[in-house]
Order: sequence, then structure tokens, then C-alpha cells
Amino acid sequence: MKKNLKLLVVAGARPNFMKIAPLLWCIRAHNNSTVNGEVKIDCKLVHTGQHYDAQMSQVFFDELGIPAPDFNLEVGSGSHAAQTAEIMKRFEPVCAAEKPDWLVVVGDVNSTMACTLVASKMGTRVAHVEAGLRSFDRTMPEEINRIVTDSLADLLLTPSEDAGVNLHREGVADSKIRCVGNVMIDSLMANLNKIDSSSILKKFGLEDGKFIYVTLHRPSNVDEAASLGTIVKELTAIAGHWPVVFPVHPRTRKRMEDFGLLPKENSGMKLLGPVGYQESLALTRHARCVLTDSGGLQEESTYFRTPCLTLRPNTERPVTITIGSNQLTDVTRLRADLEKVLKGGEKIGNIPPLWDGKSAGRIVQSLIDSN
Ligand code: UD1
Repeated sequence: MKKNLKLLVVAGARPNFMKIAPLLWCIRAHNNSTVNGEVKIDCKLVHTGQHYDAQMSQVFFDELGIPAPDFNLEVGSGSHAAQTAEIMKRFEPVCAAEKPDWLVVVGDVNSTMACTLVASKMGTRVAHVEAGLRSFDRTMPEEINRIVTDSLADLLLTPSEDAGVNLHREGVADSKIRCVGNVMIDSLMANLNKIDSSSILKKFGLEDGKFIYVTLHRPSNVDEAASLGTIVKELTAIAGHWPVVFPVHPRTRKRMEDFGLLPKENSGMKLLGPVGYQESLALTRHARCVLTDSGGLQEESTYFRTPCLTLRPNTERPVTITIGSNQLTDVTRLRADLEKVLKGGEKIGNIPPLWDGKSAGRIVQSLIDSN
């Protein structure tokens, strides 16, 4: 008889929660349907506390039905080194005591890399969900996290074929790679009914297809006064004739305040605090266009076939461009690119293969098969 499978699943920051939720649902369903002699999964959840505000964390637990974490490391914010070190220090005793068969990490945030480092050095196998994505831009902290995590991981679960190609190029053995599709789309599809009943459009006086949904938080866009100033200027110009709704990430709000760049009340821009998961999906689905630097929103807009302009020189998610509704832009052509979309010159695209709501099932099966 095969022994039960013991997993430690890690989440730390906002974009992690919609990636772990389908895994936890799937593990629960698996355990409920196993009969005598089949492998059961013992799964514990670690929240590193990298994100801690209710609107950056708890709201996702509530909306996605994620159980309270078994361990909350409460690391909070800090420089990259301080935050990574703190996660490692606090995660090490948890990993040592639990001795899981697999550590499961998702995405590319500091928590992903920090826990991977700890587990690998203890001889614990690591499964990385969303492996193989590359922007080829090492000025992005996430790119460093992706490279380190993938080079240490024992099972690399990729969202799309291009990710496998990247891993092969880096010399990762084919036997370690499984193309499982995009697990975030599992969460999205499970929430389709709920976003139809979301009241966010009404709450902010927005009409279906008649607003631009903006999210920006990348250090490269918001950490320097010059680039953030130009972005705010361009958005204010657009907001003069098209409704712009902009839920502001805490990093971005802090920079706007520090640089004296908070748009004025009468600028036409609707500045909100961070919105919850279903509200963000509703805004993405019903926007005329999304303007973002978030990885997740590039994928969600592709699913909804909402035109997306990504304010970055590159993306680690090229299928959102080659197949989906995404295109890159920069501040010098942002206004022209937006005007083109608003006039009907949009790119609609298709949904990439294996973005079908069944990725968590493939991930769980891969873990059982690799045990
Ligand atoms: C992190 C991830 C990034 C992800 C983003 C999603 C890394 C390197 N970066 O960036 O990949 O796209 O999350 O949001 O892991 N803060 C709060 N409340 C919170 C969390 C943060 O106010 O709950 C503020 C703090 O001032 C903090 C700043 O936001 O210093 C940045 O937070 P941090 O987690 O360091 O990076 P993010 O920009 O959120």
C-alpha cells in the first residue's frame, strides 16, 4: 500500500492566493473521494505574512474559501534581503518539524524563493507551480526569484509550452517538467457566477465596456518620481475624456504621496484602495481596456478577451501576447496605444491551451505520481 502524501503549501503575497486556492479545493475533493488503500493527502498551509493588510490578504482567504493557515510567519515588509532572510529564519523550524514529502510553492514572489531555499537545503523536495516563466530581465526581482526557484525545484509545473522551452534551454531534465496549465484560471472559472453579481460597477458609476481599468505597482514604474510622474500625467489626460478606475497598490500610494503625485479629486480618475478578487475580475471582464504591469491581470484579461496594454518592456507571459489580448506599451506611446484601443483597434485573441479550469487536478496527480 502506498503511504499518504504529506504536503506543505506556501503562500505569502496577493498573487499567490488565487494559485493555492484551487489546489486546496482539489486536495479536499481528492481526500473525500478516496477509498481504502488509495493515497490520501495531508496538506498544511504556511502563510509567510509577506502581505498582511486585510485587502491584500484576508479578503482572498474569504472570497476563495481558503482555510486559516496552519502557520503564519508574520514576516511583514522589508528590503529584499531582510524580508527573504526573515522568511527563511521563520520557515526553517516549520519545515524541520513537519518533514513534508513535498514543499509546494507558487509564483515568483520573495516567499516562493525563500521557502524553496530552506527546503532544498534540508533535502525536502520542492514542487514549483508556475515554473519556467522568464522575462529575461534581471532588473525585475521576480526574475531572480524564478531562476533560483526553478534551478532548485524537483518538480516544475508549467502553465504553458513556452515555459517548458525555457527550462529545457536551462538544462532542466524533461523528467522533472509537467505542463499542467494555468492554475489561476481554475480560480477565475470557479468565480464566474460571483463576478456576474458583483456590484462594483454600480458602486463606482461605471458602465459596461466604457472605462479603463488601471493597476500599477512594479518598482520600475512607480519607484522613481520621473516615471511615476509621467504615468500620472498621461492617465490624467486620458481621464479627461474616458473614465479611468485605478485601485492603488500600497507601494504605489506611498510613492504618490512621497513624490506629491496623488491625482487631484477632480482629475476624473477614480482612485480606490486595493480591491478584492471578485471585484478585480469584474473590472477586468467589463473594462474597455486594462492597463497594467501585473502578471496576473495580463492572464485574466486574456481569458476575458479584454484588450490589455502592459506598461513594461517585456513580459514573462508571452502567450498573453502571441495568443491572448495583451500587448506591450511604454509611456511614450501609452496615450496613442490607448486611443487606438478606445477607437476599436483592439486585440481580442484566444485562450491558451490548458487554461481550462483543470490545472489543479493535473498538479495533484503529478504530485501523487512523483511520490
Ligand atoms: C510583491 C511581489 C510582486 C507582486 C506583488 C503583488 C516580490 C519581490 N514582489 O510586490 O512580485 O507582483 O507583491 O502585490 O515578492 N505593503 C502594505 N501592505 C501589505 C503589503 C505591503 O502596505 O499588506 C506595502 C509596504 O509598504 C511594502 C510595500 O507595500 O514595503 C511593498 O510590499 P512588498 O511585498 O515588498 O512588495 P510588492 O510591491 O507588494
